[in-house]
Amino acid sequence: MIELVAGPIAAGGGCVARADDGRVVFVRHTLPGERVLAQVTAETSSFLRADAVDILEPSADRVEPPCPHAGPGRCGGCDWQHVSLPAQRALKSALIAEQLRRLAGVDRQVEVEEVEGAPDGLGWRTRVNFAVDRSGRTGLRKHRSHDVEPVEQCPIASDRVNQVGVGSVLWRGARNVEVMASPDGGKPVVAVETGRNRLAGRPGIDAGLVVNGRTQRRPDQVFFEVLGRRFEVGAGVFWQVHPGAATALTRAVLEALGPAAGERVVDLYAGAGLFTVALAHEVGPSGSVLAVERQGRACVNLMHNAADLHQVGIEQADVTPGLVADRLGSPDLVVLDPARAGAGLAVMDALAALRPLPRGIAYVSCEPAPFARDLRVMLDAGWTLRSLRAFDVFPMTEHVELVGALEPPGRS
Ligand SMILES: C[S@@+](CC[C@H](N)C(=O)[O-])C[C@H]1O[C@@H](n2cnc3c(N)ncnc32)[C@H](O)[C@@H]1O
Repeated sequence: MIELVAGPIAAGGGCVARADDGRVVFVRHTLPGERVLAQVTAETSSFLRADAVDILEPSADRVEPPCPHAGPGRCGGCDWQHVSLPAQRALKSALIAEQLRRLAGVDRQVEVEEVEGAPDGLGWRTRVNFAVDRSGRTGLRKHRSHDVEPVEQCPIASDRVNQVGVGSVLWRGARNVEVMASPDGGKPVVAVETGRNRLAGRPGIDAGLVVNGRTQRRPDQVFFEVLGRRFEVGAGVFWQVHPGAATALTRAVLEALGPAAGERVVDLYAGAGLFTVALAHEVGPSGSVLAVERQGRACVNLMHNAADLHQVGIEQADVTPGLVADRLGSPDLVVLDPARAGAGLAVMDALAALRPLPRGIAYVSCEPAPFARDLRVMLDAGWTLRSLRAFDVFPMTEHVELVGALEPPGRS
């Protein structure tokens, strides 16, 4: 046990503090400025990890965690159940500013915007991936651990996800059980991964069932409505999990790019086509949208979701520097929405080398550090970060979604 004063927030959701011997300590379950008694959970020669277990001087931003599973040594799913929602957004702003400064050399404060659909920060996740313990019980993993905290009802999950009741049956043989339910109706779907094991029996729940990608009971996909359009999304295919996220991000991407009739757009990392479809409506039949996505199941959804839009072309491929250089033609506009690790420097170099220069790029990201690293490549090539918005689509966690609008050299 050590006594500490928590310093600024750090990536990972904890605060930075100093131990008496000068080593940096990453402390969870605390807030900047708090004096705490902390239990050391890991130690290296240069830093410690610790959990604040006794709050000696609490911050004014501290609240009673609404989740009974939150706290030191418990569920690792949420970082900030003990933090008021406005303070969570302020912490996210600080994290974004820090990564932009450190990795992109950009000095910018970004307000993190509340997103409609979860005013108390609870009941929002339309998809939850439960871990399964040896006895077959569902739960969520503890922080930096394979151990499972048994959880039957997750307070940040939507009521429809919790109502499926995956915690009321045993999932012997399963490695994880993902529940996906839409606020827009239709039955939920449960997707199970078993690894080499076999699933013991077919659990009696009122939902579709997909085991290791094979449909056992329909439906094997759910549908979501965004700006009056319907999207089908299959088990294992990416879709935003906050009920207001898809709409907020689509609006932000359209605002960032201002697509006009007849323009050529490229949607990289297109998933089930959330942005592809909106962009195709904006550019109309005289324009074009090329969607690039690596996952076959997502491409099947994309084909269905864009079936009546003849201006959409779909390429099932990895986004690579070669693809960017050779296959994109000369787009007016580019959207990229890569996975958490970002697009990477080589892909960004290839985007910066596109000629003629696109009129604009919208970069959507769920992780400020890789976003800032990738942004640096464009800034070094003379591009400008015209606007940056941040959305609180993961309340109770340190995560945040960014939409950056980039302008080519010579335009600003
Ligand atoms: C964050 S999701 C975005 C999906 C979509 N834009 C949306 O908002 O619903 C990233 C998508 O990129 C795909 N992906 C990841 N790495 C890729 C790569 N190297 N090349 C092509 N697609 C990739 C994933 O399968 C996933 O569908």
